[in-house]
Amino acid sequence: MRLIIYTGKGGVGKTSASAATAYRLSKLGYRTLLMSTDSAHSLGDSLGTDLGVDICHVSDNFDALEIDIIHEMKTKWSDIQSYVTDFMVSQGMGNITAEEMAIFPGMEMISALFYVNQFYESGEYDVIVMDTAPTGETLRLLSLPEAANWYVMRFYGTFKKMIALARATFGKLSSVPLPSADVMDSIDELKDTLQNVSKILDDPKCTTVRLVLNPEQMVIKETMRAYTYLSLYNRNVEMLLVNKVMTDEMLSTDHFKDKREEQAHHLKEIHDAFDPMEIKLCHLRYTELRGLAMLEYMAEEIYGQEDPSKVYSSESPMSFRTDDGMDLLVMKMPFIEASQVELFRVDATTMMVHVGSQKRNIHLPDSLISAKVLGADFIDNELVIKFKRE
Ligand SMILES: Nc1ncnc2c1ncn2[C@@H]1O[C@H](COP(=O)(O)OP(=O)(O)OP(=O)(O)O)[C@@H](O)[C@H]1O
Ligand SMILES: [Mg+2]
Repeated sequence: MRLIIYTGKGGVGKTSASAATAYRLSKLGYRTLLMSTDSAHSLGDSLGTDLGVDICHVSDNFDALEIDIIHEMKTKWSDIQSYVTDFMVSQGMGNITAEEMAIFPGMEMISALFYVNQFYESGEYDVIVMDTAPTGETLRLLSLPEAANWYVMRFYGTFKKMIALARATFGKLSSVPLPSADVMDSIDELKDTLQNVSKILDDPKCTTVRLVLNPEQMVIKETMRAYTYLSLYNRNVEMLLVNKVMTDEMLSTDHFKDKREEQAHHLKEIHDAFDPMEIKLCHLRYTELRGLAMLEYMAEEIYGQEDPSKVYSSESPMSFRTDDGMDLLVMKMPFIEASQVELFRVDATTMMVHVGSQKRNIHLPDSLISAKVLGADFIDNELVIKFKRE
């Protein structure tokens, strides 16, 4: 199975690009699922159909699913949902508000990852194309498994705080429902599934990320940050889609005279920053990008005759190598300076890499458990950590 994830800043064209890719794949004969984790529900708009809350058959080989988290909570996580709701109600909150409060930001993404795991195991689809929401949570949850623990801890943490608050308010705990064994089991299951998903996400030949951007200063900067972040967490970012590029024809009018130079400058900046990554362009269209026929145009412009399920680069951002008898851990660190990186040996099996405010634990292979860290170098956007075995 292939998993292609489109991500990027708000409004750049993620949904359109995902839908176009999925449609093209289905026409090539791949059993394709297009899945959106965006609660704004724009997939239906893009496809020009109403999708509902379950998997919807769009056309031959083409299914789509817009994650509806309220529906998911009711059908899949009813234990957790009803516990959180009971808890909120015990605190004097109305039933409906309590149900909504039981939903944490990013839960759509977790639900989507559950589906990925399910379909990976069942082999029902050849390709899943994932359209994501333009939020920090999206990136964070893609950085599994760290995020899985972070997420579950946040869940626990929030409860601890609420229980403490209830205790302070009422002086006793009797009115506060405590989580049952079923609820705790559901949380454990959540954690286990996320661990499985992290194996799927870690495989650079299976899961790849495509960053969508527009030729605009702020968007470029944010895309660079997203790339650094995803590399730190070992996600294979293999393609950049520069969308809404104005055509020469548009730019030839006097009205867009200044825009012409600005766009050329931004396109150069994108190439300078991201080469040799695969960079695709898609022009801004005058007509609304809606419905399968428009998506077909978009796919044609992006991919031409190429098969969109192709893995443009399967290099993992992190690898262990041996060079001249020395063991090396090599990590891609795009757009980072050596001074922004700090390394710690947490214990025999774990190293921690800090990049700015981000940190990642790296579990060393058995062969390096007793090895000493000799030092680290920064070479061509790569952090190279040298080890010496005992
Ligand atoms: N190449 C293009 N030419 C013209 N319009 C486009 C193009 N790409 C996307 N659009 C339009 O821009 C709007 C935003 O596109 P889309 O919904 O795909 O972006 P998004 O990144 O998914 O947005 P969000 O972050 O809100 O989810 C839509 O109205 C879409 O039709
Ligand atoms: Mg969208």
